[in-house]
Amino acid sequence: MRAVQVGHTVVGFDTDPDKVKRLVAGESYVDDVPSDVLKKALESGRYQPSAQPRSCAGFEMAVITVPTPLHEGAPDISCIEQSAAMLARYLRPGACVVLESTTYPGTTEELVAPLLEEGSGLVAGTDFLVGYSPERIDPGNQKWDLVRTPKVVSGINEASLRAVRGFYDTLLDRTVPVSGPGVAELTKLLENTFRHVNIALVNELAMFAADMGIDVREAIDAASTKPFGFMPFNPGPGVGGHCLPIDPSYLSWRVKRRLGHNFRFVELANDVNDHMPDYVVRRLIAGLNRRRLAVNGCRIMILGLAYKRNTSDARESPAMVVADRLLALGADIVAADPHVSDSVYLPISRVEATAEEAASSNAVVLLVDHDAFDLPALARAAPYFFDTRHRVSGPSVEQL
Ligand SMILES: NC(=O)c1ccc[n+]([C@@H]2O[C@H](COP(=O)([O-])OP(=O)(O)OC[C@H]3O[C@@H](n4cnc5c(N)ncnc54)[C@H](O)[C@@H]3O)[C@@H](O)[C@H]2O)c1
Repeated sequence: MRAVQVGHTVVGFDTDPDKVKRLVAGESYVDDVPSDVLKKALESGRYQPSAQPRSCAGFEMAVITVPTPLHEGAPDISCIEQSAAMLARYLRPGACVVLESTTYPGTTEELVAPLLEEGSGLVAGTDFLVGYSPERIDPGNQKWDLVRTPKVVSGINEASLRAVRGFYDTLLDRTVPVSGPGVAELTKLLENTFRHVNIALVNELAMFAADMGIDVREAIDAASTKPFGFMPFNPGPGVGGHCLPIDPSYLSWRVKRRLGHNFRFVELANDVNDHMPDYVVRRLIAGLNRRRLAVNGCRIMILGLAYKRNTSDARESPAMVVADRLLALGADIVAADPHVSDSVYLPISRVEATAEEAASSNAVVLLVDHDAFDLPALARAAPYFFDTRHRVSGPSVEQL
Protein backbone atom coordinates (compact mmCIF):
# COMPACT_ATOMS: atom_id res chain seq x y z
CA MET A 1 0.00 0.00 0.00
CA ARG A 2 2.83 2.35 0.85
CA ALA A 3 4.54 1.69 -2.50
CA VAL A 4 1.31 2.61 -4.29
CA GLN A 5 0.93 5.76 -2.16
CA VAL A 6 4.38 7.02 -3.16
CA GLY A 7 3.70 6.45 -6.84
CA HIS A 8 5.00 3.00 -7.73
CA THR A 9 2.97 0.62 -9.87
CA VAL A 10 2.46 -2.49 -7.77
CA VAL A 11 1.41 -6.08 -8.42
CA GLY A 12 0.40 -7.96 -5.28
CA PHE A 13 1.03 -11.57 -6.19
CA ASP A 14 -0.25 -14.30 -3.86
CA THR A 15 -0.71 -18.01 -4.47
CA ASP A 16 -3.93 -17.96 -2.42
CA PRO A 17 -6.75 -17.10 -4.87
CA ASP A 18 -9.23 -16.38 -2.05
CA LYS A 19 -7.00 -13.66 -0.65
CA VAL A 20 -6.58 -12.17 -4.11
CA LYS A 21 -10.36 -12.23 -4.64
CA ARG A 22 -10.89 -10.31 -1.40
CA LEU A 23 -8.21 -7.78 -2.31
CA VAL A 24 -9.69 -7.24 -5.77
CA ALA A 25 -13.07 -6.64 -4.07
CA GLY A 26 -11.44 -3.96 -1.87
CA GLU A 27 -11.80 -6.04 1.27
CA SER A 28 -8.69 -5.92 3.48
CA TYR A 29 -7.92 -8.96 5.63
CA VAL A 30 -4.97 -7.24 7.32
CA ASP A 31 -5.78 -5.52 10.64
CA ASP A 32 -3.46 -2.58 10.02
CA VAL A 33 -4.68 -1.88 6.48
CA PRO A 34 -8.14 -0.28 6.44
CA SER A 35 -10.26 -1.31 3.45
CA ASP A 36 -10.51 2.38 2.50
CA VAL A 37 -6.75 2.51 1.94
CA LEU A 38 -6.96 -0.65 -0.16
CA LYS A 39 -9.86 0.77 -2.22
CA LYS A 40 -7.94 3.99 -2.83
CA ALA A 41 -4.97 1.97 -4.08
CA LEU A 42 -7.23 0.01 -6.44
CA GLU A 43 -8.84 3.21 -7.72
CA SER A 44 -5.42 4.72 -8.45
CA GLY A 45 -4.99 2.07 -11.17
CA ARG A 46 -1.49 1.40 -9.87
CA TYR A 47 -2.31 -1.64 -7.71
CA GLN A 48 -3.19 -5.02 -9.12
CA PRO A 49 -3.70 -8.03 -6.83
CA SER A 50 -3.17 -11.25 -8.76
CA ALA A 51 -2.79 -15.00 -8.38
CA GLN A 52 -1.26 -15.30 -11.85
CA PRO A 53 2.54 -15.60 -11.93
CA ARG A 54 2.61 -13.89 -15.32
CA SER A 55 1.34 -10.69 -13.67
CA CYS A 56 4.91 -10.37 -12.34
CA ALA A 57 6.34 -10.07 -15.86
CA GLY A 58 8.35 -6.91 -16.40
CA PHE A 59 9.08 -6.20 -12.74
CA GLU A 60 11.90 -3.83 -11.82
CA MET A 61 11.78 -4.58 -8.12
CA ALA A 62 10.39 -7.73 -6.49
CA VAL A 63 9.87 -7.98 -2.72
CA ILE A 64 9.43 -11.50 -1.32
CA THR A 65 7.39 -11.62 1.92
CA VAL A 66 6.26 -15.25 2.02
CA PRO A 67 5.85 -17.36 5.18
CA THR A 68 8.82 -19.15 6.72
CA PRO A 69 7.31 -21.66 9.16
CA LEU A 70 8.90 -24.57 10.99
CA HIS A 71 8.24 -28.11 9.80
CA GLU A 72 8.93 -30.72 12.47
CA GLY A 73 11.30 -28.28 14.19
CA ALA A 74 13.28 -27.45 11.02
CA PRO A 75 12.98 -24.31 8.85
CA ASP A 76 10.56 -24.73 5.97
CA ILE A 77 11.82 -22.36 3.29
CA SER A 78 9.84 -23.95 0.46
CA CYS A 79 7.79 -20.77 -0.09
CA ILE A 80 10.99 -18.76 -0.59
CA GLU A 81 12.25 -21.39 -3.05
CA GLN A 82 8.97 -21.30 -4.99
CA SER A 83 8.97 -17.50 -5.10
CA ALA A 84 12.58 -17.32 -6.32
CA ALA A 85 11.95 -19.97 -8.98
CA MET A 86 8.82 -18.15 -10.16
CA LEU A 87 10.50 -14.72 -10.26
CA ALA A 88 13.48 -16.18 -12.16
CA ARG A 89 11.18 -16.81 -15.11
CA TYR A 90 10.39 -13.10 -15.36
CA LEU A 91 13.78 -11.71 -14.35
CA ARG A 92 15.23 -9.16 -16.77
CA PRO A 93 18.63 -7.48 -16.76
CA GLY A 94 18.76 -4.58 -14.30
CA ALA A 95 15.90 -5.84 -12.12
CA CYS A 96 16.28 -6.32 -8.35
CA VAL A 97 14.90 -8.99 -6.00
CA VAL A 98 14.79 -8.38 -2.27
CA LEU A 99 13.87 -10.94 0.35
CA GLU A 100 12.03 -9.76 3.48
CA SER A 101 10.93 -13.08 5.00
CA THR A 102 12.61 -13.98 8.27
CA THR A 103 15.11 -16.75 7.64
CA TYR A 104 18.49 -18.17 8.66
CA PRO A 105 21.70 -16.31 7.71
CA GLY A 106 22.87 -17.40 4.28
CA THR A 107 19.46 -17.80 2.62
CA THR A 108 19.77 -14.80 0.30
CA GLU A 109 23.26 -15.56 -1.00
CA GLU A 110 23.19 -19.35 -0.90
CA LEU A 111 19.64 -20.06 -1.94
CA VAL A 112 17.79 -17.11 -3.47
CA ALA A 113 20.57 -15.73 -5.71
CA PRO A 114 21.50 -19.17 -7.16
CA LEU A 115 17.82 -20.02 -7.83
CA LEU A 116 17.37 -16.72 -9.66
CA GLU A 117 20.51 -17.37 -11.70
CA GLU A 118 19.49 -20.92 -12.51
CA GLY A 119 16.01 -19.98 -13.72
CA SER A 120 17.04 -16.89 -15.67
CA GLY A 121 20.47 -17.71 -17.07
CA LEU A 122 21.60 -14.29 -15.77
CA VAL A 123 24.38 -13.51 -13.28
CA ALA A 124 23.53 -12.18 -9.80
CA GLY A 125 25.17 -8.89 -8.90
CA THR A 126 26.08 -8.16 -12.51
CA ASP A 127 22.99 -8.76 -14.65
CA PHE A 128 20.50 -8.41 -11.85
CA LEU A 129 20.57 -7.29 -8.20
CA VAL A 130 19.72 -9.13 -4.99
CA GLY A 131 19.34 -8.08 -1.37
CA TYR A 132 17.77 -8.77 1.98
CA SER A 133 15.80 -6.37 4.18
CA PRO A 134 14.05 -7.78 7.25
CA GLU A 135 10.42 -6.99 7.97
CA ARG A 136 9.92 -5.04 11.18
CA ILE A 137 6.14 -4.82 11.16
CA ASP A 138 4.65 -4.70 14.65
CA PRO A 139 0.94 -5.39 14.13
CA GLY A 140 -1.28 -2.92 15.96
CA ASN A 141 1.56 -0.50 16.76
CA GLN A 142 0.29 2.98 15.88
CA LYS A 143 3.50 4.82 16.69
CA TRP A 144 6.09 2.61 15.00
CA ASP A 145 4.48 1.98 11.65
CA LEU A 146 6.20 1.01 8.40
CA VAL A 147 7.17 4.58 7.51
CA ARG A 148 8.59 5.61 10.87
CA THR A 149 10.44 2.39 11.72
CA PRO A 150 14.05 2.37 10.46
CA LYS A 151 14.64 -0.45 7.98
CA VAL A 152 17.86 -2.48 7.72
CA VAL A 153 18.89 -2.94 4.08
CA SER A 154 21.58 -5.03 2.40
CA GLY A 155 22.72 -6.25 -0.99
CA ILE A 156 25.01 -8.99 -2.27
CA ASN A 157 27.27 -6.22 -3.69
CA GLU A 158 27.45 -2.42 -3.83
CA ALA A 159 25.12 -2.13 -6.83
CA SER A 160 22.53 -4.37 -5.16
CA LEU A 161 22.68 -2.38 -1.91
CA ARG A 162 22.22 0.86 -3.86
CA ALA A 163 19.13 -0.53 -5.59
CA VAL A 164 17.59 -1.97 -2.42
CA ARG A 165 18.31 1.16 -0.39
CA GLY A 166 17.09 3.44 -3.15
CA PHE A 167 13.78 1.58 -3.29
CA TYR A 168 13.12 1.64 0.46
CA ASP A 169 14.20 5.28 0.68
CA THR A 170 11.14 6.07 -1.44
CA LEU A 171 8.87 4.30 1.10
CA LEU A 172 10.08 5.20 4.57
CA ASP A 173 11.91 7.72 6.72
CA ARG A 174 15.20 5.94 7.37
CA THR A 175 17.16 3.02 5.94
CA VAL A 176 20.08 1.43 7.77
CA PRO A 177 22.59 -0.13 5.37
CA VAL A 178 24.69 -3.10 6.51
CA SER A 179 27.62 -4.80 4.81
CA GLY A 180 25.77 -7.81 3.44
CA PRO A 181 22.68 -10.05 3.55
CA GLY A 182 24.19 -12.32 6.22
CA VAL A 183 24.36 -9.38 8.68
CA ALA A 184 20.82 -8.27 7.79
CA GLU A 185 19.46 -11.81 8.21
CA LEU A 186 21.22 -12.17 11.55
CA THR A 187 19.97 -8.73 12.68
CA LYS A 188 16.37 -9.87 12.36
CA LEU A 189 17.00 -13.10 14.24
CA LEU A 190 18.97 -11.22 16.92
CA GLU A 191 16.05 -8.82 17.45
CA ASN A 192 13.53 -11.63 17.85
CA THR A 193 15.81 -13.88 19.89
CA PHE A 194 16.54 -10.96 22.24
CA ARG A 195 12.81 -10.58 22.96
CA HIS A 196 12.26 -14.32 23.20
CA VAL A 197 15.09 -14.82 25.72
CA ASN A 198 14.16 -11.82 27.87
CA ILE A 199 10.50 -12.83 27.99
CA ALA A 200 11.60 -16.32 29.05
CA LEU A 201 13.73 -14.74 31.78
CA VAL A 202 10.81 -12.83 33.31
CA ASN A 203 8.48 -15.80 32.84
CA GLU A 204 10.80 -18.03 34.81
CA LEU A 205 11.21 -15.31 37.44
CA ALA A 206 7.43 -14.92 37.65
CA MET A 207 7.07 -18.61 38.49
CA PHE A 208 9.74 -18.45 41.24
CA ALA A 209 8.43 -15.15 42.60
CA ALA A 210 4.89 -16.55 42.92
CA ASP A 211 6.24 -19.44 45.01
CA MET A 212 8.19 -16.97 47.17
CA GLY A 213 5.15 -14.73 47.62
CA ILE A 214 6.85 -11.78 45.87
CA ASP A 215 5.18 -9.57 43.26
CA VAL A 216 7.45 -9.91 40.21
CA ARG A 217 5.82 -6.94 38.44
CA GLU A 218 6.65 -4.65 41.33
CA ALA A 219 10.28 -5.80 41.04
CA ILE A 220 10.23 -5.20 37.26
CA ASP A 221 8.78 -1.70 37.77
CA ALA A 222 11.41 -0.92 40.39
CA ALA A 223 14.23 -2.23 38.17
CA SER A 224 12.89 -0.08 35.32
CA THR A 225 13.79 3.06 37.26
CA LYS A 226 17.45 2.28 36.52
CA PRO A 227 18.26 4.71 33.73
CA PHE A 228 20.90 2.48 32.10
CA GLY A 229 21.48 -1.22 31.45
CA PHE A 230 17.91 -2.42 32.00
CA MET A 231 14.91 -2.87 29.73
CA PRO A 232 11.58 -4.11 31.09
CA PHE A 233 9.83 -7.22 29.73
CA ASN A 234 6.56 -8.54 31.06
CA PRO A 235 5.67 -12.11 32.00
CA GLY A 236 2.65 -13.65 30.29
CA PRO A 237 0.91 -16.91 29.40
CA GLY A 238 3.47 -17.82 26.72
CA VAL A 239 4.54 -16.46 23.36
CA GLY A 240 2.65 -16.69 20.09
CA GLY A 241 2.51 -15.37 16.54
CA HIS A 242 5.24 -15.94 14.01
CA CYS A 243 8.22 -14.07 15.38
CA LEU A 244 8.89 -15.33 18.87
CA PRO A 245 8.00 -19.03 18.89
CA ILE A 246 9.49 -19.70 15.46
CA ASP A 247 12.20 -17.30 14.31
CA PRO A 248 14.81 -18.01 17.03
CA SER A 249 14.62 -21.68 16.00
CA TYR A 250 15.83 -20.68 12.53
CA LEU A 251 18.97 -19.36 14.18
CA SER A 252 19.50 -22.36 16.46
CA TRP A 253 18.94 -24.72 13.52
CA ARG A 254 21.54 -22.88 11.47
CA VAL A 255 24.07 -22.79 14.32
CA LYS A 256 23.63 -26.53 14.84
CA ARG A 257 23.83 -27.29 11.11
CA ARG A 258 26.78 -25.04 10.34
CA LEU A 259 28.83 -25.24 13.49
CA GLY A 260 27.58 -28.36 15.25
CA HIS A 261 26.76 -26.35 18.42
CA ASN A 262 23.53 -26.03 20.31
CA PHE A 263 22.25 -22.47 20.72
CA ARG A 264 21.52 -23.00 24.39
CA PHE A 265 19.84 -19.66 25.05
CA VAL A 266 17.22 -20.31 22.37
CA GLU A 267 16.62 -23.87 23.56
CA LEU A 268 16.20 -22.74 27.15
CA ALA A 269 13.91 -19.85 26.15
CA ASN A 270 11.78 -22.22 24.05
CA ASP A 271 11.56 -24.57 26.99
CA VAL A 272 10.47 -21.88 29.47
CA ASN A 273 8.07 -20.08 27.13
CA ASP A 274 6.50 -23.33 25.85
CA HIS A 275 5.86 -24.32 29.44
CA MET A 276 3.89 -21.16 30.30
CA PRO A 277 0.44 -22.35 29.14
CA ASP A 278 0.84 -25.45 31.36
CA TYR A 279 1.88 -23.21 34.23
CA VAL A 280 -1.24 -21.06 33.73
CA VAL A 281 -3.37 -24.23 33.88
CA ARG A 282 -1.54 -25.37 37.02
CA ARG A 283 -2.24 -22.04 38.72
CA LEU A 284 -5.90 -22.24 37.71
CA ILE A 285 -6.17 -25.75 39.11
CA ALA A 286 -4.61 -24.53 42.39
CA GLY A 287 -6.91 -21.49 42.51
CA LEU A 288 -10.00 -23.63 41.99
CA ASN A 289 -8.72 -26.15 44.50
CA ARG A 290 -8.52 -23.43 47.15
CA ARG A 291 -12.20 -22.80 46.43
CA ARG A 292 -12.90 -26.53 46.84
CA LEU A 293 -13.59 -26.93 43.15
CA ALA A 294 -12.26 -29.48 40.69
CA VAL A 295 -11.43 -28.32 37.17
CA ASN A 296 -13.50 -31.20 35.86
CA GLY A 297 -16.99 -29.75 35.34
CA CYS A 298 -16.03 -26.13 36.12
CA ARG A 299 -17.10 -23.39 33.74
CA ILE A 300 -13.97 -21.44 32.82
CA MET A 301 -14.13 -18.30 30.72
CA ILE A 302 -11.10 -17.42 28.61
CA LEU A 303 -10.59 -13.75 27.76
CA GLY A 304 -8.60 -13.46 24.53
CA LEU A 305 -7.62 -16.07 21.94
CA ALA A 306 -5.24 -13.99 19.80
CA TYR A 307 -1.50 -14.13 20.40
CA LYS A 308 -1.29 -10.36 20.81
CA ARG A 309 -3.55 -7.63 22.17
CA ASN A 310 -5.85 -5.81 19.76
CA THR A 311 -5.08 -8.18 16.87
CA SER A 312 -7.04 -11.01 15.26
CA ASP A 313 -4.00 -13.22 14.71
CA ALA A 314 -4.32 -16.51 16.59
CA ARG A 315 -1.27 -18.23 15.08
CA GLU A 316 0.71 -20.20 17.66
CA SER A 317 -1.41 -18.53 20.33
CA PRO A 318 -0.78 -19.82 23.87
CA ALA A 319 -4.51 -19.29 24.54
CA MET A 320 -5.26 -22.27 22.28
CA VAL A 321 -2.93 -24.47 24.33
CA VAL A 322 -4.50 -23.32 27.60
CA ALA A 323 -7.98 -24.05 26.19
CA ASP A 324 -6.91 -27.49 24.95
CA ARG A 325 -5.36 -28.47 28.30
CA LEU A 326 -8.43 -27.32 30.27
CA LEU A 327 -10.75 -29.17 27.90
CA ALA A 328 -8.70 -32.34 28.37
CA LEU A 329 -9.17 -31.94 32.13
CA GLY A 330 -12.96 -31.87 31.66
CA ALA A 331 -13.56 -28.13 32.08
CA ASP A 332 -16.48 -26.46 30.35
CA ILE A 333 -14.68 -23.75 28.39
CA VAL A 334 -16.15 -20.59 26.93
CA ALA A 335 -14.05 -17.94 25.26
CA ALA A 336 -14.48 -14.28 24.38
CA ASP A 337 -12.42 -12.53 21.73
CA PRO A 338 -13.97 -9.75 19.65
CA HIS A 339 -11.08 -9.82 17.17
CA VAL A 340 -10.54 -13.52 16.43
CA SER A 341 -13.10 -14.87 13.98
CA ASP A 342 -15.39 -17.73 15.04
CA SER A 343 -13.98 -19.83 12.24
CA VAL A 344 -10.70 -20.32 14.14
CA TYR A 345 -11.02 -23.95 15.15
CA LEU A 346 -11.56 -24.84 18.76
CA PRO A 347 -14.27 -27.08 20.16
CA ILE A 348 -15.43 -24.39 22.58
CA SER A 349 -18.37 -22.02 22.73
CA ARG A 350 -17.77 -18.37 22.02
CA VAL A 351 -19.44 -15.78 24.22
CA GLU A 352 -19.51 -12.02 24.63
CA ALA A 353 -17.18 -10.60 27.27
CA THR A 354 -19.99 -9.50 29.61
CA ALA A 355 -20.11 -9.26 33.39
CA GLU A 356 -23.01 -11.77 33.31
CA GLU A 357 -20.86 -14.36 31.52
CA ALA A 358 -18.03 -13.73 33.98
CA ALA A 359 -20.40 -14.04 36.96
CA SER A 360 -21.77 -17.35 35.72
CA SER A 361 -18.27 -18.86 35.38
CA ASN A 362 -16.31 -20.52 38.17
CA ALA A 363 -13.15 -18.86 36.90
CA VAL A 364 -12.19 -16.22 34.36
CA VAL A 365 -8.68 -16.23 32.95
CA LEU A 366 -7.36 -13.14 31.20
CA LEU A 367 -4.90 -14.25 28.50
CA VAL A 368 -5.02 -11.32 26.05
CA ASP A 369 -5.77 -7.81 27.29
CA HIS A 370 -7.64 -6.41 24.29
CA ASP A 371 -8.76 -2.78 24.75
CA ALA A 372 -12.32 -3.92 23.99
CA PHE A 373 -12.58 -5.76 27.32
CA ASP A 374 -14.05 -3.91 30.29
CA LEU A 375 -11.57 -5.55 32.63
CA PRO A 376 -12.56 -3.86 35.93
CA ALA A 377 -16.22 -4.87 35.38
CA LEU A 378 -15.27 -8.43 34.44
CA ALA A 379 -12.92 -8.75 37.42
CA ARG A 380 -15.62 -7.46 39.80
CA ALA A 381 -18.17 -9.92 38.44
CA ALA A 382 -16.00 -13.03 38.37
CA PRO A 383 -15.88 -15.22 41.48
CA TYR A 384 -12.23 -15.96 40.63
CA PHE A 385 -10.26 -13.89 38.11
CA PHE A 386 -6.79 -15.08 37.09
CA ASP A 387 -4.94 -12.17 35.47
CA THR A 388 -1.91 -13.21 33.41
CA ARG A 389 -1.41 -9.63 32.12
CA HIS A 390 -1.28 -7.68 35.35
CA ARG A 391 -4.14 -5.42 34.40
CA VAL A 392 -6.61 -5.52 37.28
CA SER A 393 -6.77 -5.86 41.03
CA GLY A 394 -9.50 -6.76 43.49
CA PRO A 395 -10.53 -9.32 46.07
CA SER A 396 -11.18 -12.11 43.53
CA VAL A 397 -8.14 -11.32 41.38
CA GLU A 398 -4.98 -13.40 41.34
CA GLN A 399 -1.93 -12.34 39.32
CA LEU A 400 0.38 -14.55 37.28
N1 LIG B 1 3.39 -10.66 10.31
C1 LIG B 1 4.33 -9.97 10.92
O1 LIG B 1 4.06 -9.15 11.77
C2 LIG B 1 5.81 -10.17 10.59
C3 LIG B 1 6.76 -9.33 11.20
C4 LIG B 1 8.09 -9.49 10.91
C5 LIG B 1 8.48 -10.49 10.03
N2 LIG B 1 7.56 -11.29 9.43
C6 LIG B 1 8.03 -12.30 8.48
O2 LIG B 1 7.46 -12.08 7.20
C7 LIG B 1 7.23 -13.33 6.55
C8 LIG B 1 5.77 -13.41 6.12
O3 LIG B 1 4.97 -13.36 7.29
P1 LIG B 1 3.42 -13.01 7.23
O4 LIG B 1 2.97 -12.90 8.65
O5 LIG B 1 3.17 -11.89 6.32
O6 LIG B 1 2.87 -14.36 6.59
P2 LIG B 1 1.39 -14.67 6.05
O7 LIG B 1 1.24 -16.15 6.10
O8 LIG B 1 0.39 -13.84 6.74
O9 LIG B 1 1.37 -14.14 4.56
C9 LIG B 1 2.18 -14.59 3.57
C10 LIG B 1 1.41 -14.68 2.26
O10 LIG B 1 2.26 -15.34 1.33
C11 LIG B 1 1.46 -16.15 0.49
N3 LIG B 1 2.31 -17.12 -0.18
C12 LIG B 1 2.73 -18.33 0.25
N4 LIG B 1 3.54 -18.89 -0.68
C13 LIG B 1 3.65 -18.01 -1.70
C14 LIG B 1 4.36 -18.02 -2.92
N5 LIG B 1 5.13 -19.02 -3.26
N6 LIG B 1 4.21 -16.96 -3.71
C15 LIG B 1 3.44 -15.90 -3.36
N7 LIG B 1 2.74 -15.86 -2.22
C16 LIG B 1 2.85 -16.89 -1.39
C17 LIG B 1 0.41 -16.71 1.42
O11 LIG B 1 -0.72 -17.14 0.70
C18 LIG B 1 0.13 -15.50 2.34
O12 LIG B 1 -0.93 -14.74 1.83
C19 LIG B 1 7.67 -14.40 7.52
O13 LIG B 1 8.98 -14.78 7.24
C20 LIG B 1 7.62 -13.69 8.86
O14 LIG B 1 8.54 -14.24 9.78
C21 LIG B 1 6.23 -11.13 9.69
